[in-house]
Amino acid sequence: MSEADLAKVNAAAAALDYVKDGMVVGLGTGTTSAHFVRLLGERVRQGLRVKGVPTSEATQTLAEQEGVPLLSISQVTHLDLDVDGADEADPHFRLIKGGGGALLREKIIAAASAHMIVIADETKAVETLGAFPLPVEVTRFGFALTATRVFEALKETGCAGEEVKLRVAGKANEPVITDGGNYILDAHAKRIPAPEALAAALKEIPGVVEHGLFLGLARTLILGKAKGAEVREL
Ligand code: A5P
Repeated sequence: MSEADLAKVNAAAAALDYVKDGMVVGLGTGTTSAHFVRLLGERVRQGLRVKGVPTSEATQTLAEQEGVPLLSISQVTHLDLDVDGADEADPHFRLIKGGGGALLREKIIAAASAHMIVIADETKAVETLGAFPLPVEVTRFGFALTATRVFEALKETGCAGEEVKLRVAGKANEPVITDGGNYILDAHAKRIPAPEALAAALKEIPGVVEHGLFLGLARTLILGKAKGAEVREL
């Protein structure tokens, strides 16, 4: 296993300490969260009683394979814990998420959780958000127009970058479709000096379904290293 992967496993393993019998737990999306789901599956097989709420179809499939009992989002009004990865985390635990395209469900579940724990390898900790392109989930209808408005929002809120790209994948460069049936725009901000202002500006744009700025949600940040993990609390 690579050092980067080991760091992810160590972050995921440290998050297990927060999981108590009887809890309803949000299950994040991405490679680090996948390690957490696998480790949680081991605990379940040893007798831990929890119910998971997956943040994506991919996580649902993995959790089912691992034997983690699941609830759908329509069956819960409140979660005890949410454990999810991040693409960037700043010193105030403001996050960029959505590199894996699951930001909408991830944010709904994070916002419904009493405690959000972010698990990431230590390279995800940054001083200022924005080097990682900010994912913005948008309706397919009018997406090019929406991209123009997102671009304006970047400029109005003092971001350094100036490019907003439709996310594509595969040999044919087909647009990526989210679990919610929408497109993703990647907003290359380079530097986001005022995340709250940008978040507010994005919310005003018709066609923006959700954006990957997670502000005021994470309370615990677990940064995995090749050996062990550092736990930070707000
Ligand atoms: C998924 O949509 C994302 O928010 C992920 O949580 C994020 O991209 C981190 O993924 P990794 O754990 O794979 O780095």
